Amino acid sequence: MSGFFTLDDFNLSGKSVLVRVDINSPIDPESGRILDDTRMRRAMDTLKDLDDSKVAIMAHQSRPGKKDFTPLGGHAEHLSYLLRKDVRYVDDLFGSKAREAISRMKKGDVLLLENTRFYSEEVALKGKPLEVQEKTHIVRNLSPFFDYYVNDAFAAAHRAQATLIGFARKLPSIAGKLMEREIVGLSRALEGERPRIAVLGGAKFDDSIEIARNMLENGIADKVLTTGAVANMFLYSTGKALGEPSESFLLENGSSESLVKKAR
Ligand code: 3PG
Repeated sequence: MSGFFTLDDFNLSGKSVLVRVDINSPIDPESGRILDDTRMRRAMDTLKDLDDSKVAIMAHQSRPGKKDFTPLGGHAEHLSYLLRKDVRYVDDLFGSKAREAISRMKKGDVLLLENTRFYSEEVALKGKPLEVQEKTHIVRNLSPFFDYYVNDAFAAAHRAQATLIGFARKLPSIAGKLMEREIVGLSRALEGERPRIAVLGGAKFDDSIEIARNMLENGIADKVLTTGAVANMFLYSTGKALGEPSESFLLENGSSESLVKKAR
């Protein structure tokens, strides 16, 4: 596969590796319990492959203002269980506490740094270009401690944020196992025969409306099928009554007049 480096292209044994994963998970707001660990399980191939490196993981959980916008202590505990080794939680991302923990890492150690979205640069500069992201304190403070950057956060790869794109020119950058698998799968789908049908679902209906538009207008897909809240949003935009719980969900999660117009 050409176009990007994979973990097979380097010997990372003993190297310091900064890994961005997407383990944003459903959490019970009352107990803090992680309700679904699918994304953590998906990160395992990459983390196991880096078994004898020095690994610091960056991840986000939810968004500011949401009930499940939590620190990552529980995530570290669950990653330890899945990885069968201690994943140490550091409640800092790029300050002296994080940098000290990183500089003390030994071969085989794994750290999970704090929720990247607790830090204003990650949130406020969302969508800004690479030139801006690479000048953030997050990138400038962390880059000198690492030999490589691995991006395995496929489900968040559409976000232009410091921890997702800011290291691209600062460190040799590698696609993790999940990222590689998804890119290969997508490329195969895009090279296949027509008609091409895309399926969009899940809770992020605002993003999905844009994605559907992009796919149809640019000939990426011939048809788009929708499910979940995405389907509900399209139904809602045509005036269909969905019932109170589904309509409240849309309203509480960003449905607006302009979005309704877009979906129509
Ligand atoms: C997701 O769950 O879709 C990703 O983690 C991205 O999260 P975001 O939509 O809050 O950026």
